[in-house]
Amino acid sequence: MKRKRVSFDNSYTPPAAMPDYLIRHATLRQFQVFEAIVRLGSFTRAAEELFLTQPTVSMQIKKLSDSIGLPLFEHVGRNVEPTEAGRELYDACRSMFESLANLEMKVSDLKGLKRGRLRMGVVTTAKYLAPDILGEFSQLYPGVDLALKVTNRESIIDRMHTNEDDLYIMGQAPEGEFEVESHVFAPNPLVIMASRSHPLVAKKKIRLAEIAKEPFIIREPGSGIRDVTIRTFEAKGLRPKVRMELGSNEAIKHAIAAGLGLSVLSLHTLTLEGTEGPVAVLDVEGFPILRHWYIVYPKGKELSLVARTFLEFAIGNEPNIRKRVQKMWPALKNLLNDGKAGRARKKKVAAKK
Ligand code: PGA
Repeated sequence: MKRKRVSFDNSYTPPAAMPDYLIRHATLRQFQVFEAIVRLGSFTRAAEELFLTQPTVSMQIKKLSDSIGLPLFEHVGRNVEPTEAGRELYDACRSMFESLANLEMKVSDLKGLKRGRLRMGVVTTAKYLAPDILGEFSQLYPGVDLALKVTNRESIIDRMHTNEDDLYIMGQAPEGEFEVESHVFAPNPLVIMASRSHPLVAKKKIRLAEIAKEPFIIREPGSGIRDVTIRTFEAKGLRPKVRMELGSNEAIKHAIAAGLGLSVLSLHTLTLEGTEGPVAVLDVEGFPILRHWYIVYPKGKELSLVARTFLEFAIGNEPNIRKRVQKMWPALKNLLNDGKAGRARKKKVAAKK
């Protein structure tokens, strides 16, 4: 077979001042450690994220700072802040890593779906469905490495700003400040839950005003479900009687089962135990609130072949998720079939932080 001739751009000349000294003395690993400390604001958290010990992290930074010839961090109270040299280095690290990530994406596209990496950032509550979809996807494409970051809505929006993942799963696409592409891919019904022995479990068509008299458990600030809950009460001129604030859906379910109060949660949180377990779903007027799950990414972001394939796979998987949710709580059937859940739509939304 005749080999294709490759032509290079001969007009390219390497920069006059190649950073020889840094090339010989600094390593990409040191830059990675440095970037993580600045981004996370802490040596300890950077060590955790990179699975390194703290002495290793400190040693790498000492070496890097020796190569640069200036201190990279200063202590401000109990926090570490980058110095001016540190801030310059941070900008350089980010553009270097962006170029390398771009290269990695191009190379893995050339290799097809046999190899590659998919980094997903999902809001806390999506952890009940993301692993299932990723599991099925990885059976089809076993060569693809998966990384899943689970955190609340506010942190996911921050990650989107700094372009840390390929795709995001959220309960609502952000609106306002920057533009995103968002694709509906599954129903996400929000319901009010109570302990199985609660007197309201036997009642039908409970008014929200009655719920507002009960002690309430709510997610932490930054949670999407917390925002929806507060807005739903406010729309009726009410306020939940918050007794406890918890940052985890699982902790909230345990608190509900222990009789500490009621809460609004996604029906997906009952995926393992179902609706007949120690936590019951109440029949409240205006509920369930039928939200949807969206796969989101910044507008204009070039998706890798793996990310594009996953997006199509997840959208195509919608009927399975809908069936699963419906089976959990058959009363949802009409709502789900009337709703938008069956129609995966592409929407362009102006995004807000
Ligand atoms: P959360 O988001 O897990 O941060 O509450 C879920 C949602 O927005 O539905």
